[in-house]
Amino acid sequence: MYKVTKVMLSEEDILNKVKEIAKNIENDFKGEELLVVGILKGASVFVADLIRHIDLDVNIDFMSVSSYGNSTESSGTVKILKDLDVDIDGKNVLIVEDIIDSGLTLSNLVGALKTRNPKSLKLCTLLDKPQRRKVNMKVDYVGFVIEDKFIVGYGIDYAEKFRNLPYIGIVEDVEA
Ligand code: IMP
Ligand code: MG
Repeated sequence: MYKVTKVMLSEEDILNKVKEIAKNIENDFKGEELLVVGILKGASVFVADLIRHIDLDVNIDFMSVSSYGNSTESSGTVKILKDLDVDIDGKNVLIVEDIIDSGLTLSNLVGALKTRNPKSLKLCTLLDKPQRRKVNMKVDYVGFVIEDKFIVGYGIDYAEKFRNLPYIGIVEDVEA
């Protein structure tokens, strides 16, 4: 039975970091418009908090890509399940992810979105597990670098559960 066994990042830890990332984004895009692209479903909570601390002309959109299903291991393939509603030609695009693990999801997405001719394309993730990286990639805004543990909460799931936790916790298979 899967249970949250430890709190890794509290609500307060997360909020402080969200504000810090938002200010960095704000400084980097001063006087510019920004399209924030959240990756569903995991990044939805992060996007909602992040945009409220960015004092710029911000638009939002979401994409859905297939990832882990009900397993804790990546399949290594990425498919666009829901594309953007808007054309990103000539726009500053900021892709917002919940967590980067192998990096396959984001590197595939970056490749796909680059062909659409955005003015700029940057990456932001709340969490980063660099130990598990399979592809080299530059991430512009990273919240927390974490160890290789399966985590949930703050939008992030295990088998669609635990997304509603206000904190980020480690989930483990424990005896019922
Ligand atoms: P990547 O393609 O391996 O980088 O996978 C990134 C995606 O896998 C994230 O957007 C998450 O949806 C999911 N993922 C990676 N690590 C975890 C985790 O520890 N808990 C829950 N989901 C995870
Ligand atoms: Mg995700």
